[in-house]
Amino acid sequence: MAEPSGRLTASALQARKRSRDKIAVLTAYDATIARLLDEGGVDVLMVGDSLGMVVQGHETTLPVTVDEICYHGRAVARVVQRAHLVGDLPFMSYQVSAEQALHSAGRLLKEGGFQSVKLEGGRVVADHIHRIVSAGIPVMGHVGLTPQSVHGMGGFRVQGKDQDAALQVLLDAQAVEQAGAYAVVVEGVPADLGRRITEQLSIPTIGIGAGPDCDGQVLVCYDFLGMVRGFAPKFVKRFAELGDEIVKATRAYVGEVRQGSFPDAAHSFGSGTGAPAAERGHSGGAGYGPAGEEH
Ligand code: KIV
Repeated sequence: MAEPSGRLTASALQARKRSRDKIAVLTAYDATIARLLDEGGVDVLMVGDSLGMVVQGHETTLPVTVDEICYHGRAVARVVQRAHLVGDLPFMSYQVSAEQALHSAGRLLKEGGFQSVKLEGGRVVADHIHRIVSAGIPVMGHVGLTPQSVHGMGGFRVQGKDQDAALQVLLDAQAVEQAGAYAVVVEGVPADLGRRITEQLSIPTIGIGAGPDCDGQVLVCYDFLGMVRGFAPKFVKRFAELGDEIVKATRAYVGEVRQGSFPDAAHSFGSGTGAPAAERGHSGGAGYGPAGEEH
């Protein structure tokens, strides 16, 4: 099921629970990466507030604003053809009231080009979710380890480890479903709790550090591409080592520039007419055309 845009809808994703087709989700923050992930067949692209950490270099997601989510959303929305686009409601853009939540969610759709929004929390945001969904905006919930509550949780810690804590996470997930969400991210919980929540909910669970039994999985794009240096949580699997490739390519570039071997004749414009079609500018061919003219 697709929208006029051709992208997957929230209801098509919700239906995957019944058909038991797993949902592959990744984050994306810019057009170049988003285009590649879409081409690779990812079902959902999420402009997460994780951008505060992996794009902006903050220690937490807390500084991110609605304007910033919309800015990155527009870049992603311009190029994505098939994946469903989810925008994250950042810290303090929805916690204050259901009205504030609806207003911010509306901005994400109008200004960011998103098809649905995600927000963190369970029972405490159930009214907010209901209000947004009632206005016709699909909502993805997010329970368990909720990074916007990093200070309240005392750090990025696995949640639901004992019986009572597990029950609290389960009750939150059920409240999110009852409020009308079409799916819920379950983050940083033991695998058996991820399975229990998945069994008890009739909407898809999207796991991140929640074991193999969730209805889908999500990873931060730079994590799965192996571009993040330093500490990585246990749940991160690196499907490529692009970080090493980038460092290698950078060393090669620096070396050739210093030696004067780049650019060579093949990467320089000739004088006169009939310059080859390969004489294009920087990415997307937006720089110089076949005749060597600037567009
Ligand atoms: O902010 C984010 O990117 C997220 C996903 C990793 C679930 O919340």
